[in-house]
Formats: sequence, C-alpha cells, structure tokens
Amino acid sequence: MAPWHPRRIEFGGDYNPEQWPRDVWAEDRALMSQAGVTLATVGVFSWAHLEPEPGRYELDWLGDVLDGLHAQGIGADLATATASPPPWLTRLHPEALPIDHEGRTRWPGARQAYCPSSTAWRTRAVALVEQLAGRFGSHPAVRLWHLGNEYGCHTSRCYCDTCAAGFRRWLLRRYGGLDGINSAWATAFWSQRYSDVEEILPPRLTPDGAWANPTQQLDYRRFASDTLLEELLLEKEVLRRLSPDVPITTNFMVMTRFNQLDYWRWAEEVDVVSTDYYPEFADPLTHVEAALSADLTRGLADGGSWLLMETSPSAVNWQPRNPAKKPGALRRDALQQIARGADGFNVFQVRASLAGAEKFHSGLIPHAGTDTRLWREVLDLGSLLERLGEVAGSRVESEVAMVWGYDAWWACELDSHPSVDVRYPDRPRALHRALWDRGITVDLVRPGAALDGYKVVVVPTLYLADDAAAAAVRDFVAGGGHAVVTYFSGIVDEHDHVRPGGYPGAFRELLGIRTEEFAPLLEGETVVLDDGSTADVWTEDLRLEGAEAVRTYADGPVPGAPAVTRHAFGDGTAWYIATRTSPEGTSSVLDRVVAEAGVGAAAVTTPGVEVVRRRGEQGSWLFVLNHTGREAAVPASGVDLVSGDDLDGEVRVGPGGVAVVREAGA
Ligand code: GLA
Ligand code: ZN
Repeated sequence: MAPWHPRRIEFGGDYNPEQWPRDVWAEDRALMSQAGVTLATVGVFSWAHLEPEPGRYELDWLGDVLDGLHAQGIGADLATATASPPPWLTRLHPEALPIDHEGRTRWPGARQAYCPSSTAWRTRAVALVEQLAGRFGSHPAVRLWHLGNEYGCHTSRCYCDTCAAGFRRWLLRRYGGLDGINSAWATAFWSQRYSDVEEILPPRLTPDGAWANPTQQLDYRRFASDTLLEELLLEKEVLRRLSPDVPITTNFMVMTRFNQLDYWRWAEEVDVVSTDYYPEFADPLTHVEAALSADLTRGLADGGSWLLMETSPSAVNWQPRNPAKKPGALRRDALQQIARGADGFNVFQVRASLAGAEKFHSGLIPHAGTDTRLWREVLDLGSLLERLGEVAGSRVESEVAMVWGYDAWWACELDSHPSVDVRYPDRPRALHRALWDRGITVDLVRPGAALDGYKVVVVPTLYLADDAAAAAVRDFVAGGGHAVVTYFSGIVDEHDHVRPGGYPGAFRELLGIRTEEFAPLLEGETVVLDDGSTADVWTEDLRLEGAEAVRTYADGPVPGAPAVTRHAFGDGTAWYIATRTSPEGTSSVLDRVVAEAGVGAAAVTTPGVEVVRRRGEQGSWLFVLNHTGREAAVPASGVDLVSGDDLDGEVRVGPGGVAVVREAGA
C-alpha cells in the first residue's frame, strides 16, 4: 500500500515535452515554477518515443525531463505511457487492432487503437512498465504513477474473437456454467437458448430492428469494464513490485457523461482517485454538472483526498464551437473542485501544442505567450492555490447522499423500453441541481453502500436495483432516514429481469405504493399537477398502499392519480416522485423533504451562489462561488483567503467571483 498524503493543493497539468525541442524545456520549467506548478503529468502518449522499435528502449530523455523537474522542485505524475501503442505494435500484431460491433477494424493513425484483450498488446505494455518502473521507480521527482490514460476513451468495447473468448470465460466465472448463463439471459425468449458455451458471442450487429438480448448487452458492458481493469491491474502489479512507495492513480473520464467503466469498482484499485472534467461550453448549467462530477469523485474517494487531473485552462478543441473561458472562470472552476474535496487542480496541458489534432486546445502557456490574460490568470491561480494549502486533507461536509449506479445507467440505456425519454442521468442531475441551488452538498454513493450518518438519501432513476441496493435504502428509512425515489427505479434485478407484483418492485413496500401500468407521455406532451406545476415524459397508474398523495395529476393520462407520494416507514419517511417534475416542482418537493429531515445548507444562499464547507483538524473553510452576474452576500465570519479581508458576519462576492473563508471560532 502506497498512501497519498496531500501536503498542499497540487497544481499542474499534462506536460508533453517530446513535442518540443530541448531548448523549450528550460523555459517550460521556469514558467511552471513561476506559476507555482507542483505536479506535472509526464509521458502519457510517449510510448513511441520510449520504445521506438520493439524491445529497444530510449529512456534517457525522460530521465532528463524528470531530473529537470526535480531540480525545479516540481513533482511528476509519471505515466506508464501505455495509453496509445506505437504504430509498429499493431503492424507486428494486427490481431491487436480493435473491431467494432459491426465487424469493422479501427485503424491506427489517431490514438488508442488497440484491443484491450490482446495478449501481444498486454505483454508489450507490461514490458514497457517494467522498464519505466525499473528505471524511475524511486526517482525523487516521481510522486505518483499515472496508469494508462482515460481507460476506455475511444475504444471501450472491442468485439473481436479474442474478446469473444474472454467474454465466455468471464461469463463462466460469473454464472458458474451454461445453465446459469441461460437463466440470467432468459434465453427461453426468441429461441436464444445456448447448448454450448462456444456459441456465445459479444452483442455484434443484429438484423434490423431485432434487439440483442438485453442481459447479453448489459453483461458485455460489465465484461468490457472488467477487461480494461485487468490492464490496470497488470500494470499495478509491476509497479507494486518495482516502485512500492509511489502511489498509483488513473484519470477517470468525465464520469457524469462517460459511462463505459464501472468507476465504483475501479476506485477500489487506485491509491488516489483522480478524474477529468471538461465544461460543455454550450450548456449554461455546465458549472452545476461540474459540481456533480466533483461530488461523484469525492464519493469514489470515499470522502478522502482526490485530484482533478484534467480540465481545460481555457478553450477545448473538441466541441463544435470552442470559446475561450471568460475572465475569472479558470479560478472559479478550480476553486469549485477544491471546495468539493479536490486536493489538486491540474489541466490539459502545460504548453499548448503547435501541431497535431489538439493544437487549438488551450494550455497554461498559450500560443500567444506570456503577455496574455490567460497567463496572468494562471499566475494568479498558482499563488492562490499556494495560499489555500491549509485546506488540503480536510473533508467536505454533507448530510445528503445520492445513489449513483453505472449498472443502473447501462441498463437504463438498453433498447425497447417504455419511453426513450427516460434517460440517465437526467434525474440525478435535476435533483442534485435543486439541492445545489440551496447550498446543500450531496455525496454520491454506490448502490448498496451503508447510508448511516446521512439525513436524506436521493435515489433517482435506479432502474436496476439489486437486492443489496434496495435493502440499503430500506434499512436507512427504517432507521429514521428520509429517502426520495424517482420514477423508473427498482424495476429490474441485476439480470435486467422485471421484479413482479407491481412497480417499482424493489421499493414498492418501502414507498407504500403499487403501480399497475406505466403511462409515459408522448413527445412534447405535458401534464399539470394539482399545485399548478407541470411535468413531462412520465406518469404512471399508481395506487396508494399506505402512502399519502402529496401531489396528484390535474390532467393527463391518469387524472387524479398520485404524482408525488409520502410514506411513513419504520422510523423514517419515503417519498416517491412518479413524474418528471419541472425544476420548480422538484424544488418544492425537496424543500419539504429537507425541512422535515432537518438538513441545513452550508450557508444561507441564493440560487447560482454555490456554498460548500470543508472541515479539518485545523478548522473549517466556507467556499463561496458566485456563478451569477450580480454581487452576492453570504453570512460568514473569519478571513477571506482570496481577498485577505477580515469578515464580520458577511462576505460579499462580486459577479463571477470567489471567496474562501477561514471561519472564525470553528
Ligand atoms: C482527454 C485526454 C487528453 C486530451 C484532453 C483534451 O481528457 O486525456 O489527452 O486529449 O482530453 O481535452
Ligand atoms: Zn478485441
């Protein structure tokens, strides 16, 4: 075990010196040092430079880079360099190229074109990691190992014959034999029964309009996540052997949008959780999604220290339109992640590339050089993060948990469902946002996790809920907790088989309701509730079996039927929201829930002014992030570490501004 000790708030980014002549390296180091960079991620896409021919390693240049960083007091997050194989590898081993579900080869020429099951690829990757760990495993600059990069990016699932064989082995391990597979996959349907394991294939392209077996699809996603994880474990084994004192991480990939991996499972295998989060510049609520991403990352880190590994200092290159960040946005984005538990803020990348597919992606050092607003903002941020060092290692306070499941997301995405408009993570976002607006911090938790210590648990769109997930919510409420479940939750078990007896099977008794039939709305259709608020997408023909109706439908397919219910269960209360309430409708329900549960905000605030508290042995810090265009005032006493002001009862934060209050008397 190699523990990660946050000593300060780390600051830095991906550093790709192999794209530059050596005379630029000295300037890079001087500028990084000027900006207060503490951590540089090196070597992510360097395989072709480290092993230019099979078995011939050229590691000296990387040694020079690490020595240079160390001399400047900058640590390295050293990549295992396996993110993208060099062209020679797949020329030598063409079977290592990935095949998509239509049987098409994905060719090299971009990045990450390899089959995750390929033995040739794995053997060569392990050999490279052995070289790197052997040479640099105790280099004084190396503070962290960065395994792969955004596992699953570009090629998350391969459908080749090697993967098919791996899938069969995985299925036999999971189900013990063919009978188990036939029963989990319900192959009595459509003549799908397998009589020999060798007949089983990945869910490849099927005839038009004929959906592949849903459990086969779901299991393939589980298998694909596990297969990529095997790669990480192979590298981890080498590193534990050759570099036991250096902790390991891998950057998870924008987990609120990218769902190829079961990150709950992955988080168990790293010493420090890190993630990438990039804003969607066209989404006016992208900063709320950034908060959700941070809350999820903190959940994966079990409330402990984590790192934001990548975001853009300014523009990205991969959205249809790529504006620069507005003045002050970089600082606000950074502080938001730190407010929510990050002990490091790193970007892609240190110096903007001049060539290649990402040349219009911003870097800390822009094309235009250092006489730029961006560079001045980078310097400001570096010095602010240094001042915030005292926050490192403290924990975020939260009384509300939200269950977030990759299985549930995968299953929800399967085809031939009651409505294409039920999409994950629509409701998680909506409920999180309603709480965010009130300054209530939410921890994201794994389905089935113990929920003690929370006052409220939110369970949005947990379509697939296994028995453990259902029991955890039930026990929580029985013990006095308040739960809010939204529609299309608890419908199927872990095999995607419907739980019979009325919906939502897994939560029916807890919620004190029984739904006979779904009544999803047609495209564009809305319904009005008895409080005048509107809803869309979903209604259901719900009967009360112990619960009370808090809202009913005034019109729509099931007029008079309950739309929101409340049920006293054990010592607690279970709420059900049976329709896709508007933001106002969602808020008014959550207002009642948090009031009844006695949940407090980090500070009294107004929508758009984000407040979060971190608390540690040294005291507590209130972060205030003003995402609005107006000045905001929040009650606070202590010292604002951003402005240096002493506060007596109130902190005023300008439009787009930030404050970090070291709280008096805390
Ligand atoms: C991802 C990758 C980086 C880079 C950035 C660009 O996060 O990990 O290598 O491509 O995207 O935004
Ligand atoms: Zn494959």
